[in-house]
Amino acid sequence: MTTIRLAREDDAEVLPDIEQSAGEAFRTVPELAWLADEGNVSVERHRILIRRGACLVAADNQDRPVGLLSATVEGDVLHIWELDVRLELQGMGIGRSLLERAVENARQLGVAAITLTTFRDVAWNAPFYRRFGFRILEGAGVDERLTGLLLAEARHGMPAERRCAMRLDLGPAAGATQDIR
Ligand SMILES: CC(C)(COP(=O)(O)OP(=O)(O)OC[C@H]1O[C@@H](n2cnc3c(N)ncnc32)[C@H](O)[C@@H]1OP(=O)(O)O)[C@@H](O)C(=O)NCCC(=O)NCCS
Repeated sequence: MTTIRLAREDDAEVLPDIEQSAGEAFRTVPELAWLADEGNVSVERHRILIRRGACLVAADNQDRPVGLLSATVEGDVLHIWELDVRLELQGMGIGRSLLERAVENARQLGVAAITLTTFRDVAWNAPFYRRFGFRILEGAGVDERLTGLLLAEARHGMPAERRCAMRLDLGPAAGATQDIR
């Protein structure tokens, strides 16, 4: 059983290991297998993001993180930088639970939407986010900030034609009338 909670600074130490484990999933996609050997986000960077208050972890019954959702408020949106679940626990609903909690948090923060960048054609990337309600942004719909992120990813060796930016607009939800930002 896992519990979704806000990340604490002392979680940061184990997060690169979760990212490493999660990334092993890319070994099943031959042209993207190299991603499994890429460096992970550093502990210090995780600490900085956690301090900004919108990062979540999925913790096991001993309160050890097994999944993470790393996000920050950027202007009027919550941007998800990382969503990772340990390989052996993937496909059990933990990723979806992390996303659902991020949506709740985003509503409480009063932001207009959630954004992210991902692979268009990897089963557990864009198709999953699409089923969750995100839409792929195309052309002029990709704003300057997201264009900059996609360009930076391409410079890092990501195949630009397979990457996309996605957005989930947050309509008003029942009971979520308070703007605490
Ligand atoms: C993306 C990720 C965090 C999802 O976490 P998860 O715990 O596996 O997610 P869930 O069990 O809630 O499943 C999410 C969806 O992905 C699909 N999925 C998960 N693993 C899959 C796989 N190996 N192959 C095909 N589909 C898969 C599930 O069918 C599910 O779809 P649905 O909810 O629409 O029915 C996880 O797969 C992961 O860490 N992947 C590697 C890192 C990554 O790609 N992160 C996202 C970067 S944008």
